[in-house]
Amino acid sequence: MIELDGVWLTLGGRQVLHGISFEVQPGETKVILGGSGSGKTIILKLILGLFRPDRGSIRVAGQEITGLREQDLTQIRQNMAMVFQGAALFDSLTVRENVGYRLWEQGGLSDEVIEQARALASGAKVLLYDEPTAGLDPINSFMICHLIMRLKAKGVTQVVVTHDLDIAFRVADRIVMIQDGSIIFEGTAEELGGSQDPAIRGFLDPGSLPPEAWEALSSRVTG
Ligand SMILES: Nc1ncnc2c1ncn2[C@@H]1O[C@H](COP(=O)(O)OP(=O)(O)OP(=O)(O)O)[C@@H](O)[C@H]1O
Ligand SMILES: [Mg+2]
Repeated sequence: MIELDGVWLTLGGRQVLHGISFEVQPGETKVILGGSGSGKTIILKLILGLFRPDRGSIRVAGQEITGLREQDLTQIRQNMAMVFQGAALFDSLTVRENVGYRLWEQGGLSDEVIEQARALASGAKVLLYDEPTAGLDPINSFMICHLIMRLKAKGVTQVVVTHDLDIAFRVADRIVMIQDGSIIFEGTAEELGGSQDPAIRGFLDPGSLPPEAWEALSSRVTG
């Protein structure tokens, strides 16, 4: 459904993506996991055609989008819905999800009802989420998780950008992990959890790092 192949991008004179390649299969829920500034939002913007890569290919539903004119991109975007973070979430959901959410909130949301709610939507085939649980309390985060899982069970293709490990491990079919504009892992949540790569261990469980590694981490955070 979505294929990035060798995508490089420079922004403001800085190389922000270094040869990113991954695929999202139809019906797959793919999580893009990574720290602040790693390039997650930019990848979503590339998929939406809001940025053009310096090099590489981006295909959406089999169509190469990197050379498309704005009016053709508008058509491609009609198949996608972007869900922004936290507070804006319920505003940015499509009609379908908003209606589904409200019905659900009122209790007793059957699959049939969700299906009907989905039929009200703009017809999006792919849902892109950018930090959907950022700034939400645990109950609302859980509700978002639940919503993503229901849509996943319905076979909706979803790309979920997050640094929230809880949501990542709950919803992902597969996870892409990105660091400083490069992919450092692609696989299942189970494979990620079992990885002994220090960069991955440091992200999943910073406290497990030896104290001498903390200084390097904090100098990265503080620049
Ligand atoms: N319009 C822009 N012009 C120049 N640099 C940009 C622009 N947008 C993003 N960047 C830089 O590109 C890098 C990746 O940004 P991006 O927004 O994709 O990070 P992110 O992984 O989404 O981070 P966060 O978790 O904080 O949202 C960062 O270093 C950022 O400063
Ligand atoms: Mg971001």
